[in-house]
Amino acid sequence: MVTLREVLKQAETEGVAIGHFNVSDLITLKAVFESATDQNVPVIVGASEGERQFLGVRQIAAMVKSLREECDFPVFLNADHTHSLASAMEAAKAGFDWIVFDVSTLPLEENIRQTRTAVEALKTIRPEILVEGEIGDIGSGSEIHDTARDLRKGLTTPAEARQFVEETRIGTLAPAVGNMHGMLKSMVAGDTKKRLDIERIRTIKEQTRVFMTLHGASGTDDGDLRRAIAAGITVVHINTEVRIAWRRGLDRALSTQPNELLIEPAAPS
Ligand code: G3H
Ligand code: ZN
Repeated sequence: MVTLREVLKQAETEGVAIGHFNVSDLITLKAVFESATDQNVPVIVGASEGERQFLGVRQIAAMVKSLREECDFPVFLNADHTHSLASAMEAAKAGFDWIVFDVSTLPLEENIRQTRTAVEALKTIRPEILVEGEIGDIGSGSEIHDTARDLRKGLTTPAEARQFVEETRIGTLAPAVGNMHGMLKSMVAGDTKKRLDIERIRTIKEQTRVFMTLHGASGTDDGDLRRAIAAGITVVHINTEVRIAWRRGLDRALSTQPNELLIEPAAPS
């Protein structure tokens, strides 16, 4: 079976990106997996700390492993936005292929120190594991936001990115390049789109040469996504759009198929 690193290398060579989709239940896992098999493209399943708390760390690892092995299909598992070393080590021991170690709210020097420690510790558990670090501010919460953030102050600079990659030895980098977690209501309606700083992506890639992940990709302008991939993005993270599809599908099913689930009031005795 092809490894995650090989999949990313091939994507980088071909100038395409791999989709990463967060899941929080079996329904979303099946939707992501079946879409990937339909399209016959490798896929990464993500589970953040909150999603892992609900799914169970070892339970989601066992489900993805079983899909990979029984279907002989390149599906990989990422411990998304992991804020502590203990939680990262738990995921690595459970068999996750990738850890996003996210202490990006800390000052740069402390972020570097903790991320380097995490890279070293996680590699002793699984030498082949990919560890991603994050700098800059892309907000948090794959949900619908009422107000837009001012993203300009939190953008990643190429110089910081280079220092961060050299000093932490991470395998993948999550920069802030105009992206943000979640969507505005106007984005859900399709009236506005997230726009990306393509030149910043290109320069950071030239300065670091590591794989780069675009977080917060729900609601991004399609043209910007294509240009971002051409400029050096190798993985695209989507969560809010998956959650919206889950909600809409559930609403539709409940309203059109009441007999499946309608509970009649008990008859008076
Ligand atoms: O790590 C998860 C992604 O960055 C999801 O972002 O909810 O804006 O799609 P999104
Ligand atoms: Zn993210």
